Amino acid sequence: MADPANADTVPDAPEPASPGATVRLCRRSDLEPGSVRRFDVAGLRIALARIGDELFAVGDRCSHEDFPLSDGEVWAEECELECAKHGSTFDLRTGAPCSLPATTPVPVYQLVVDGDDVSVVVP
Ligand code: FES
Repeated sequence: MADPANADTVPDAPEPASPGATVRLCRRSDLEPGSVRRFDVAGLRIALARIGDELFAVGDRCSHEDFPLSDGEVWAEECELECAKHGSTFDLRTGAPCSLPATTPVPVYQLVVDGDDVSVVVP
Protein backbone atom coordinates (compact mmCIF):
# COMPACT_ATOMS: atom_id res chain seq x y z
CA MET A 1 0.00 0.00 0.00
CA ALA A 2 1.32 3.45 -0.86
CA ASP A 3 2.38 5.61 2.06
CA PRO A 4 0.31 8.83 1.87
CA ALA A 5 3.32 10.69 3.22
CA ASN A 6 5.23 9.68 0.07
CA ALA A 7 2.36 10.35 -2.35
CA ASP A 8 4.44 12.92 -4.22
CA THR A 9 7.10 10.31 -5.03
CA VAL A 10 4.72 7.72 -6.53
CA PRO A 11 5.04 7.95 -10.33
CA ASP A 12 1.92 8.54 -12.36
CA ALA A 13 0.52 5.59 -14.25
CA PRO A 14 1.39 5.77 -17.95
CA GLU A 15 -1.23 7.32 -20.17
CA PRO A 16 -3.09 4.70 -22.18
CA ALA A 17 -2.24 5.00 -25.85
CA SER A 18 -5.06 6.26 -28.05
CA PRO A 19 -5.80 4.89 -31.51
CA GLY A 20 -3.51 6.60 -34.00
CA ALA A 21 -0.84 7.34 -31.39
CA THR A 22 2.67 6.12 -32.04
CA VAL A 23 4.56 4.13 -29.43
CA ARG A 24 8.31 3.72 -29.75
CA LEU A 25 9.55 0.12 -29.92
CA CYS A 26 13.30 0.26 -30.46
CA ARG A 27 16.05 1.41 -32.77
CA ARG A 28 16.21 -0.25 -36.18
CA SER A 29 19.80 -1.18 -35.41
CA ASP A 30 18.61 -3.15 -32.36
CA LEU A 31 17.22 -5.78 -34.71
CA GLU A 32 19.54 -7.82 -36.91
CA PRO A 33 18.35 -8.54 -40.47
CA GLY A 34 16.55 -11.88 -40.50
CA SER A 35 15.56 -11.67 -36.84
CA VAL A 36 12.31 -11.20 -34.94
CA ARG A 37 11.66 -9.80 -31.49
CA ARG A 38 8.65 -9.47 -29.22
CA PHE A 39 7.30 -6.20 -27.81
CA ASP A 40 4.45 -5.70 -25.34
CA VAL A 41 3.26 -2.11 -25.70
CA ALA A 42 -0.07 -0.28 -25.42
CA GLY A 43 -1.91 -3.53 -24.77
CA LEU A 44 -0.50 -5.06 -27.96
CA ARG A 45 1.75 -8.09 -28.26
CA ILE A 46 3.85 -7.48 -31.36
CA ALA A 47 6.34 -9.58 -33.29
CA LEU A 48 8.70 -7.14 -35.02
CA ALA A 49 10.67 -8.74 -37.85
CA ARG A 50 13.44 -7.34 -40.00
CA ILE A 51 14.27 -8.44 -43.53
CA GLY A 52 17.15 -6.45 -44.99
CA ASP A 53 16.29 -2.87 -44.07
CA GLU A 54 12.53 -3.49 -44.06
CA LEU A 55 10.58 -3.92 -40.84
CA PHE A 56 7.27 -5.72 -40.32
CA ALA A 57 5.00 -5.88 -37.29
CA VAL A 58 2.39 -8.59 -36.80
CA GLY A 59 0.47 -9.86 -33.82
CA ASP A 60 2.65 -12.14 -31.74
CA ARG A 61 0.03 -14.85 -31.27
CA CYS A 62 -0.23 -17.65 -33.77
CA SER A 63 -3.85 -17.92 -34.84
CA HIS A 64 -3.67 -21.71 -34.57
CA GLU A 65 -2.88 -22.22 -30.87
CA ASP A 66 -1.84 -18.84 -29.46
CA PHE A 67 1.89 -19.59 -29.64
CA PRO A 68 4.35 -16.65 -29.80
CA LEU A 69 5.38 -16.08 -33.41
CA SER A 70 8.45 -14.21 -32.15
CA ASP A 71 9.83 -17.63 -31.17
CA GLY A 72 9.76 -18.59 -34.84
CA GLU A 73 12.00 -18.09 -37.83
CA VAL A 74 11.94 -15.31 -40.43
CA TRP A 75 11.83 -16.61 -44.01
CA ALA A 76 13.41 -13.67 -45.79
CA GLU A 77 12.89 -14.76 -49.42
CA GLU A 78 9.21 -15.52 -48.83
CA CYS A 79 8.69 -12.53 -46.48
CA GLU A 80 7.07 -14.92 -44.01
CA LEU A 81 7.33 -15.74 -40.33
CA GLU A 82 7.17 -19.38 -39.31
CA CYS A 83 5.43 -20.51 -36.14
CA ALA A 84 7.86 -22.62 -34.14
CA LYS A 85 5.13 -24.87 -32.74
CA HIS A 86 3.52 -26.54 -35.78
CA GLY A 87 5.15 -24.80 -38.73
CA SER A 88 2.46 -22.54 -40.17
CA THR A 89 3.92 -19.50 -41.88
CA PHE A 90 2.38 -16.03 -42.06
CA ASP A 91 2.91 -13.38 -44.71
CA LEU A 92 4.58 -10.48 -42.90
CA ARG A 93 2.97 -7.95 -45.28
CA THR A 94 -0.62 -9.11 -44.85
CA GLY A 95 -0.73 -11.42 -41.83
CA ALA A 96 -2.33 -14.13 -43.98
CA PRO A 97 -1.49 -17.74 -43.18
CA CYS A 98 0.50 -19.37 -45.99
CA SER A 99 0.45 -22.96 -44.75
CA LEU A 100 -1.59 -25.19 -42.47
CA PRO A 101 -2.56 -25.79 -39.74
CA ALA A 102 -3.29 -22.06 -39.20
CA THR A 103 -6.19 -20.78 -41.32
CA THR A 104 -6.84 -17.35 -39.81
CA PRO A 105 -4.74 -14.20 -40.38
CA VAL A 106 -2.84 -12.44 -37.62
CA PRO A 107 -3.08 -8.65 -37.30
CA VAL A 108 -0.59 -6.44 -39.10
CA TYR A 109 0.50 -3.18 -37.47
CA GLN A 110 1.64 0.00 -39.18
CA LEU A 111 5.14 1.16 -38.32
CA VAL A 112 6.72 4.60 -38.40
CA VAL A 113 10.47 4.77 -38.84
CA ASP A 114 12.05 8.13 -38.02
CA GLY A 115 15.79 7.93 -38.52
CA ASP A 116 16.77 4.92 -36.45
CA ASP A 117 13.67 5.04 -34.21
CA VAL A 118 10.94 2.47 -34.86
CA SER A 119 7.42 3.08 -33.55
CA VAL A 120 4.13 1.29 -33.96
CA VAL A 121 0.85 3.05 -34.70
CA VAL A 122 -1.79 2.03 -32.17
CA PRO A 123 -4.78 0.66 -34.08
S1 FES B 1 0.54 -22.93 -32.78
FE1 FES B 1 1.31 -22.01 -34.58
S2 FES B 1 0.97 -23.46 -36.13
FE2 FES B 1 0.16 -24.38 -34.34
